[in-house]
Amino acid sequence: MSQPISIAIVGSGYVGLVAAACFAEIGHHVICVDNDEAKVQTLREGGIPIHEDYLPELLNRHRGKLVEFTADLRAATKAAQAIFIAVGTPQSRAGSADLSYVDAVASEIARSIDSYKIIVEKSTVPVYTNEWIRRVVERNGVPRDLFDVASNPEFLREGTAVVDFLHADRIVIGAATERSAELLKRLYLPLTSGEYYRTANAVPGPRAQADPPPILLTSTKAAEIIKHASNALLATKISFINVVANICEAAGADVEEVARGIGMDSRIGPKFLRAGVGYGGSCFPKDVAAFRHVAEQVGVDFGLLREVEKINEEQKLRFFQKIRSALWTFRGKRIGVLGLAFKGGTDDIRESPALDIVQRLLNEGCVISAYDPAAEERSREVIPVGPQMQYAKDPYEAAQDADALLILNDWQEFAELDLARLRYTLRYPIVIDGRNLYDPTGMTENGFIYLSVGRPGSSQTLDPVATHYLPPPRGRAKA
Ligand code: UDX
Ligand code: UDX
Repeated sequence: MSQPISIAIVGSGYVGLVAAACFAEIGHHVICVDNDEAKVQTLREGGIPIHEDYLPELLNRHRGKLVEFTADLRAATKAAQAIFIAVGTPQSRAGSADLSYVDAVASEIARSIDSYKIIVEKSTVPVYTNEWIRRVVERNGVPRDLFDVASNPEFLREGTAVVDFLHADRIVIGAATERSAELLKRLYLPLTSGEYYRTANAVPGPRAQADPPPILLTSTKAAEIIKHASNALLATKISFINVVANICEAAGADVEEVARGIGMDSRIGPKFLRAGVGYGGSCFPKDVAAFRHVAEQVGVDFGLLREVEKINEEQKLRFFQKIRSALWTFRGKRIGVLGLAFKGGTDDIRESPALDIVQRLLNEGCVISAYDPAAEERSREVIPVGPQMQYAKDPYEAAQDADALLILNDWQEFAELDLARLRYTLRYPIVIDGRNLYDPTGMTENGFIYLSVGRPGSSQTLDPVATHYLPPPRGRAKA
């Protein structure tokens, strides 16, 4: 690998920890900083506080050699050439990004600078943040020639963040000086030269030595806007296909077919056109609101994003009404739930549509039995076990004697259920699928009443007399 660079990464969360492991993987020395001492201790002892493919392997490979953990930001700043800020930028009540952690960390970094440093924004931050960090560092007495502030936004999807980092579509660098641009280009050289992809045990992914990720070198403002605009456009695609799904549902078309046809246009592309219960996570809801807020601050009305948010909220409500249309009444009904994280492949429940729907059902008096392969622990903190809430150890326990089964996120295992076993485990063979994991015809042929999003039969009224005579579940005498 090219010459190693010493890096500090402040914030060992979903972004910081993955960035630390990946920078070490490409040969750099990383000091991972966090003000949560318990988290630092867990990381030092080999604990991995988040669910990410390949993260355990990379941290085990580099811990104690190229990656170390500390709560001492001051020492880390002195030891590093580049200091990445990856602390949380949660949504404030006003909808803007809460940058107070970034502000606090920038001040603390400034007070520790004793030689030239590059401070790099890794967290998703609104345009103008770079300038503010520069101002804060100068106010703390650091001479202008002793530091630069650059922007290097991340495009990591939770669950695939390591592959997204090492096999990036592009590496965006916002730099105001040649010096900072050069150092950041050197930092990513093992990837942009293609060298990394030749190494033994390289993390597999779409990139190769002959097809390395390109670097986009631009202004700091453009880099900050690229990040917000990318997330806002991806969220817009999702809200768009969700409205199209609702049209398909009313018209009797299949949104999966429509999405396939739209996505075959190379200008649109097939990705992020999956209709469902709406988007969630720690990024899209926060970043759409923050970008809209940034627009307002510079005097631009981004009404489109208000619609994107409105559609997303309504999508959860529509799904909740779909459940009501299948069950008629809620109080005392047993509901099996598959999926609690905001999507499959992650343990993150932040802004999870699944939890929102579960909470609504609990408020209506339902009894819930929920299963998620990775998000149970975090979910228990928000919705503890109680007379109405149980956690199951597998999908069939969740479905046991349930009046209906809901599929609320897209873990692969939810798409591969044993339908015959499911059929007689449920009290009634009703499956309401918020992620379109199954084919409606196949489910009907397997004896289920199957409701999904944007497909024929998704909004049928379930009158057992008129439209569907439910043969008694196997193993029970006729009612
Ligand atoms: C990050 C980015 O902050 C966010 O902009 C992006 O959109 C998603 O990824 P995330 O990594 O999910 O957010 O944040 P979080 O999981 O909350 O981790 C932030 C870490 O920073 C936490 O471990 C927290 O303890 C730490 N932290 C926070 C500090 O070390 N110092 C602080 O002052 C504040
Ligand atoms: C997103 C961006 O993809 C990533 O580039 C950025 O760095 C952080 O935010 P993430 O939030 O981890 O990543 O997950 P993502 O896979 O983008 O899904 C976001 C939400 O959209 C999830 O709730 C997912 O279920 C939903 N989604 C995604 C859809 O409903 N339909 C789709 O077609 C794709």
